[in-house]
Amino acid sequence: MKDLLHTPEGVRDIYNGEYRQKLEIESAIHEVFTSSGYMDIQTPTFEYFNLFDSDIGTTPGKDLYRFTDRDGETVVLRSDFTPSIARCAAKYFLEEQGVLKFTYKGNTFSQTGELQGKLRETTQMGVEMIGDDSIDADVEMLKLSFDAIKAVSDKNFVISVSHIEYFKGLCEELGIAGEYELKLRDLITNKNFVAARQFLESRPSTAFCLSDDAIEKILKIEDLAGGYEILDKALALASNDRSIAAIKRLKDMHDSLKALGLDDKIAYDLSMLNKYTYYTGVVFKAYMPGVGDCILKGGRYDNLLKEFGKDAPATGFVIVIDDLLQAVRTPEDETLDGYLTFALTKGRLADKTLDLLEKIGISCEEVKDKDTRKLIFVNDELKLRFFLAKGPDVPTYVESGVADIGVVGKDTIIEEDRRVYEVLDLGFGKCRMCVCGPKEAEELLKHHEKIRVCTKYPTIARDYFYNRKHQTVELIKLNGSVELGPLVGLGDVIVDIVETGSTLKENGLTILEEICPLSARMIVNQVSMQLKSDRIRTMIMKIKEIMNES
Ligand code: PRP
Repeated sequence: MKDLLHTPEGVRDIYNGEYRQKLEIESAIHEVFTSSGYMDIQTPTFEYFNLFDSDIGTTPGKDLYRFTDRDGETVVLRSDFTPSIARCAAKYFLEEQGVLKFTYKGNTFSQTGELQGKLRETTQMGVEMIGDDSIDADVEMLKLSFDAIKAVSDKNFVISVSHIEYFKGLCEELGIAGEYELKLRDLITNKNFVAARQFLESRPSTAFCLSDDAIEKILKIEDLAGGYEILDKALALASNDRSIAAIKRLKDMHDSLKALGLDDKIAYDLSMLNKYTYYTGVVFKAYMPGVGDCILKGGRYDNLLKEFGKDAPATGFVIVIDDLLQAVRTPEDETLDGYLTFALTKGRLADKTLDLLEKIGISCEEVKDKDTRKLIFVNDELKLRFFLAKGPDVPTYVESGVADIGVVGKDTIIEEDRRVYEVLDLGFGKCRMCVCGPKEAEELLKHHEKIRVCTKYPTIARDYFYNRKHQTVELIKLNGSVELGPLVGLGDVIVDIVETGSTLKENGLTILEEICPLSARMIVNQVSMQLKSDRIRTMIMKIKEIMNES
């Protein structure tokens, strides 16, 4: 009987005061949308799979809940409203020349990876405006975003704005196209500038050969985040028509926002490119303290309706009601707005990180006390908090937003696969991820036969053997002293970190193949990057300076 009381992972009951508050939020936002002339529309909870086709650029297939109906058709639970609204606009308003304005509310479903508090079913409310490509339409979207948030909360928030064409113009100018552009877009969207640089410098194809100057030019996008002044900086850097036009549009938009008194809530971030590739112009996201993700996201998608046979520009946004509810319900003091919180990997990485931070004036005396069993250390004067955590937990703290910044090995970042920005390679903690074993095991790696692999890193091992080597493996997860595996006959080889090589040597094992180099990385929470932008970006800049000096 007890089992019947549980809900599946990622879904939950919501009742009583919390539900009442959720309904009040929905009602207040609905009033904002309908009083602005948006017409209610309801679309089905599930649609044909091809509505979310990868060509359209929405949720990746692996994240969709899909099933086959009795006619053998593959259908999916909607993960995103925009394709459904686009389909409706083309179906019912094909000949309509005027501007269409829709508002909707409903639940969306997405199979995210390991959960760590993220819901798989969320309520979303949004608006879509079809048939208007003017700056006024973009401004209306931002004004509605502002009004909707204001209608439910007085808390601090920021709306971060970007224009996809700035990046696309740069790519076109430098000859980056197709899958390379998508890969680069993905890395930049995740603020993984370390990997973006490596990707560009590795020059993965002869069709994609960039000069050093070109690489530097595109990576400058990292610095194009902040207030209105960054638009001037971006304009000075741009030398192609598409990028220039994008910045000019943002500037014109800013004038209108200023006239409406909304400019102090707006920030610009030209490396915010959005994972849905159907976006074509101005895009934006809103952030509030208390949630690890944006509470609102949207933008212009002028080509999507063409896919459905209606050639019309469009823009819109969605509010994730559950995230907004969480932000509204989080007590102000719990978000520790003025503090910068670091989650450091216990041990050598924490020591090295503290040494580095001290050089830029970020310090905390009590954290250095080797005998203390305390886990949280505070420097009230500098408004800093530090906590020491096990490596694999660091990305979890940072993803959720309870820590703004984390320092952790690249191995853990790959293995945990959290939604965090990877902003810096700190250059210490250098080691390699390798396949190791007794020399005789070398032969086993030359064929595609099944071998037994012991590892603390199943995700990395699986990816290496399945996607790079195309070899079937039996993975055996161990939690430490992995070298024991082949020594006692539990496995044939191990996938593990090699630093000095002494553990291998003392146990008669050897490196058989190298998977990737590793080092300590700085990761940042997405919301902190927007809400504490000045402090975090200044810190990153200072660390870069120190690293360049040494
Ligand atoms: C790591 C790794 C190797 C060893 C490699 O283990 O898993 O066992 O260090 O270092 P070396 O090349 O310098 O010998 P760690 O000490 O973190 O402990 P664990 O084996 O219990 O995970």
